[in-house]
Amino acid sequence: IKNIAVLTSGGDAPGMNAAIRAVVRAGIYHGLNVFGVKRGYDGLVKGDIVPMDAKSVANIIQRGGTILKTARSEEFKTYEGRKQAYENIKRFGIDALVVIGGDGTFTGASKFIEEFDVPIIGLPGTIDNDLAGTDFTIGYDTAINTVVDAVDKIRDTAESHDRLFVIEVMGRDSGLIAIRSGISTGAEAVLIPELEVDYNAIMKRLDQTRKNKSSRIIIVAEGDDEGGLVVADKIKENFPHYDVRVSILGHIQRGGKPTCMDRVLASRLGVAAVEGLLAGRKGEMAGLICGDVQFTPFGKAIKHIDKINTNLTRIVEILSL
Ligand code: F6P
Repeated sequence: IKNIAVLTSGGDAPGMNAAIRAVVRAGIYHGLNVFGVKRGYDGLVKGDIVPMDAKSVANIIQRGGTILKTARSEEFKTYEGRKQAYENIKRFGIDALVVIGGDGTFTGASKFIEEFDVPIIGLPGTIDNDLAGTDFTIGYDTAINTVVDAVDKIRDTAESHDRLFVIEVMGRDSGLIAIRSGISTGAEAVLIPELEVDYNAIMKRLDQTRKNKSSRIIIVAEGDDEGGLVVADKIKENFPHYDVRVSILGHIQRGGKPTCMDRVLASRLGVAAVEGLLAGRKGEMAGLICGDVQFTPFGKAIKHIDKINTNLTRIVEILSL
């Protein structure tokens, strides 16, 4: 391997820039030429590929978003698109790829490897944390800290007005953002797609704990069947006297400076990706499990696994008295 390329794909996540920087600098350190692909797989299909050097990634470790930009490419989902991408890879003399993203990114990478046998290593870059093969994904820690900051602020106004707030957080298929931010903001309930909602139990708890609180926070993961607005309506039906408000945090959760934890995670995994490629690895995602770098085949990383630890959901319940 002499030439590698790096791209970011799918929803952006804080720490992607730190990962790009790590891949570029680790590549240069090991004597490789490194290219950057713009807008994910779209840039591969269109040949939007630029050389990167140590300077091109200077002063980005602390920046949110991705300097390479990102997209969800429709063309790359077709065989013709992937063929075009392969031709561009050959044209630029690229021997291997590092792709940073989530399940869509790794599904695309798996197909590409199957058809064209290009060595690819993936890095988990998504705020949702919904990948197997890593305890945490790049961007998750920053996103949950953004949520905690926002919910703390909402708690101030909720407390002043004796209100109940339903707060919807991101997580398309996963309640991992909801559960940790729920515990750390003292939420009274957390609703997540992985668990059936027992409305009776929630209503009972809200009723029983009324004397202890003047404000209530209910966190709902967007992937939950109901969504924040529906949950709020149900609560209003049961407790017409509650002053209920809904807040949907939205894309604020995807932006901002990455936390120290995300920067270190991205830096470690970026170096691991390059060294993994040099060691002959392909078709795997580099992740961190119990503090150690480990590689997991794409097929296993994206197999939707339930990373929800039921001890965490129990903690919400126990502490919401
Ligand atoms: O996958 C990350 C994520 O932020 C999800 O939590 C969310 O559902 C989705 O991306 C939103 O994506 P977009 O608005 O970019 O289409």
